[in-house]
Amino acid sequence: MTDEELKESYFKSEPIPEHILEHMEHCRQQHMEVPDEKLIKRPSQIAGIREAGRINTLVLDAVAKEIHDGMSTQEIDDIVARVTKDNDAICACLGFEGYPKNVCTSINDEVCHGIPARHRKIHDGDIINVDCTTIYHSYYGDASRMFMIGKVSPARERLVAETKKCLEIGMEAAKPWNTVGDIGAAIAKYAHHQGYSVVRELGGHGVGNGFHEDPFVAHIAKAHTGMVLVPGMVITIEPMINAGKAAVVIDPYNDWTIYTKDGSDSAQWEHTILITETGNEILSY
Ligand code: MF3
Ligand code: CO
Ligand code: CO
Repeated sequence: MTDEELKESYFKSEPIPEHILEHMEHCRQQHMEVPDEKLIKRPSQIAGIREAGRINTLVLDAVAKEIHDGMSTQEIDDIVARVTKDNDAICACLGFEGYPKNVCTSINDEVCHGIPARHRKIHDGDIINVDCTTIYHSYYGDASRMFMIGKVSPARERLVAETKKCLEIGMEAAKPWNTVGDIGAAIAKYAHHQGYSVVRELGGHGVGNGFHEDPFVAHIAKAHTGMVLVPGMVITIEPMINAGKAAVVIDPYNDWTIYTKDGSDSAQWEHTILITETGNEILSY
């Protein structure tokens, strides 16, 4: 059997526990949006996603160790490619919908999907997001971190710290039988209180058996709306928080990189998490 076939086979051989199915049925009767059974990961799948997430974290750890002032974003891409390969894994980004590199490197006013390049160097005072997704035996782990290069302004330092706090607040809301909307409601409330805005066009997502699965995880939403969170679901939370206004534009030349429209700074942190019966567990950071 291929890895793909093995992964698929667990939907039959490892059924969803009866008490969870009953709780899902109860939610359906309350007119809540209930996930398809394919979005509930089975124990062997979770073990595989955990491995992919572990390697993805190792890759980001390697970047954290080597990132420095004067480095090009291509060198970051080289580290990601090397460490991923050394772990017998695959960079999910390379070739995804035509994406040309192994990782996304988004600097200052770049919101996400910055494309590594030899000519693009990081300098003292820059903030950069490195977003990495790893495939291992056909399972996916997805995470991103911010790095501050040299001495960063207090405003940038605060944006990076408060965006991390937004992710943590989102995770607190990511409990079983809450809804996806509860996550975005909690994040947006906190971000706005800090004087920041929340990017609407991009969000977190189901992940694990594929790269981008349902549900879409908006980082600004209404509480008690959207899909109910069920133990066994694996999602990312990855708030993109702008120091200025929320509007974004896409690079007309590469059709990938997203910038803030007003040129203000933007930060993002991403974890892959598993919804458990008691809360959640981080699978990649
Ligand atoms: N890792 C990103 C995410 O968090 C997706 C990047 S897609 C790419 O969902 F093609 F730009 F790499
Ligand atoms: Co990502
Ligand atoms: Co993601």
